[in-house]
Amino acid sequence: VSERFVIELHDGERLRAHEPTRAEVAKAASQLAAFYNDPHNSAMLAQDEELSDADVVAHYRALAKEGARAFFLELEDPIVRIVGDADLRSVTPEDAEVAILIGDRSMQGKGLGLRFGVMLHAFAFGTLGLRRTYASIIPANAASLRLFEKLGYERDDTPAARRFVEEPDDVVLSLEPARFARLHGAMADRARVRPLGR
Ligand SMILES: CC(C)(COP(=O)(O)OP(=O)(O)OC[C@H]1O[C@@H](n2cnc3c(N)ncnc32)[C@H](O)[C@@H]1OP(=O)(O)O)[C@@H](O)C(=O)NCCC(=O)NCCS
Repeated sequence: VSERFVIELHDGERLRAHEPTRAEVAKAASQLAAFYNDPHNSAMLAQDEELSDADVVAHYRALAKEGARAFFLELEDPIVRIVGDADLRSVTPEDAEVAILIGDRSMQGKGLGLRFGVMLHAFAFGTLGLRRTYASIIPANAASLRLFEKLGYERDDTPAARRFVEEPDDVVLSLEPARFARLHGAMADRARVRPLGR
């Protein structure tokens, strides 16, 4: 599955997640850097350095190089604006690690994380056919712990899960497609996933 994809969910609001081109990453780099450098976000992401626009471009280039699937999270209201980003990294035919950011602080806590999360997992399980996804979260990140719990994630202390920790007290959770389908199948079915071409 090497094409770029877009995932859309019209749910009152129009949510769109798409895999950006290099040019789109360059154009959005300063906005993404502001998201990552926001003091609350950087603490929750356990990121200790201020990121430049060039760092953001390098981060996306590194993701592309390792075969990750990175998405811009956008709202069409009606002008398209980026509210965050998300990716599947360490992707194998079986599994991947998930990361998600609603970067605009004023947009957090409004249910966007859950809906974009469902869209991303519709792609991970439906399009890529993964059998499990993992999330590694710092214990202080209550919003993220709650978001992943709502998505259906459960604590996973197996070695396959613990390979994703950065600090020993990080919590690793995982999710299988059957449980995701039970909890969110209705919403996932309404998410339209299609290739954008190169
Ligand atoms: C974590 C994050 C993606 C969640 O997205 P969001 O749009 O804010 O979350 P939602 O509005 O969809 O809420 C999902 C659940 O989390 C809860 N929640 C949201 N913010 C919370 C907070 N600060 N503390 C506790 N629970 C919180 C919501 O109440 C909701 O649960 P409920 O339905 O039981 O009430 C977003 O807050 C974010 O990007 N934070 C900074 C970066 C980050 O931590 N990324 C994840 C790294 S693992």
